[in-house]
Amino acid sequence: MQVQIVEVGPRDGLQNETQTVPTEAKIRLIGLLAEAGLRRIEAGSFVHPRWIPQLADTADVFRQLPRSPAVTYSALVPNQRGLERARECGVTEVAVFMSASETHNRKNINKSISETFPVLREVAREALALGMRVRGYVSTVFGCPYEGAVPLDNSRRVTDELLAMGVYEVSIGDTIGVATPRQVQETFAVLVNDVTSERLAGHFHDTRGTGLANVAAALAEGIRTFDSSIGGLGGCPYAPGATGNISSEDLVYMLHGMGYETGVDLQKLIEAGSYIQRQLGRPLPSKVLAASLAQ
Ligand code: HMG
Ligand code: MG
Repeated sequence: MQVQIVEVGPRDGLQNETQTVPTEAKIRLIGLLAEAGLRRIEAGSFVHPRWIPQLADTADVFRQLPRSPAVTYSALVPNQRGLERARECGVTEVAVFMSASETHNRKNINKSISETFPVLREVAREALALGMRVRGYVSTVFGCPYEGAVPLDNSRRVTDELLAMGVYEVSIGDTIGVATPRQVQETFAVLVNDVTSERLAGHFHDTRGTGLANVAAALAEGIRTFDSSIGGLGGCPYAPGATGNISSEDLVYMLHGMGYETGVDLQKLIEAGSYIQRQLGRPLPSKVLAASLAQ
């Protein structure tokens, strides 16, 4: 049984660090992640550099990445300006993103949900015409830092709209890490029934320690693609209290133990984790990384 991992550390992880990691270190990290066997790596974002200064060098990162036909490097784009910047440096896959809750959508991308649809529709149309693949994200599916509980119908609507734009997969986001397995199971049961499991991914932040339990709940609903971040880095600067994604090392350890294949070499992944931990100069949240370094 195969599970696909989308490594979001270089984007979700580094966007939330107070210090900006030098471009060369980002490229080295991405190289180590690819060497560990990760085949889908989100390498940065083409958002406004004032909104996320940590990723202002994404174009330089893309220009110098170690290219390999086996690895897809993608980037977030919020609008046509972002798409234009992605196109200029040869990006082949972009991800569009929006929220299921109005307030987070506005705080994060400065538009209402209904204003966002036409923007993303146009981005997706152009990206597909340029031969790019387009992924979609729905944030705050399990709870919003501003509004609290978010009705599941909001997420169903945004998911449907994204798929209608031509995205090949929608990543269902627990932006602030509030979900518990029961909510994950109930949410995915509905979404899988709406759109099938092949078109969905789980994106769990581990703020309250339920991240891997949520993966297990989503696996039971047939989900086979998960986003994770090296070292457990991550968080959205426009979602107060959001901390790291589930750690890639912990996810791979758990999946292999459960009999799933990921194509990832855990030892090499740990080397990537220790590299970025040394760069940042503080212990990262990954438990498998800490355990392996303690041995
Ligand atoms: P805005 O200020 O409303 O933009 O920001 P605007 O369209 O009004 O344009 C204003 C100026 O910005 C213009 O320049 C544009 O050209 C420029 P001027 O004419 O004044 O000189 N501009 C840009 N420049 C560079 N790149 C661009 C771009 N767009 C406009 N792409 C905007 C709207 C969407 C740009 C802004 O709100 C933004 O960049 N937001 C991004 C925030 C972000 O990156 N958040 C984190 C990622 S989402 C996340 O982490 C969640 C996720 O992990 C899933 C989960 O966990 O749930 C994916
Ligand atoms: Mg995220």
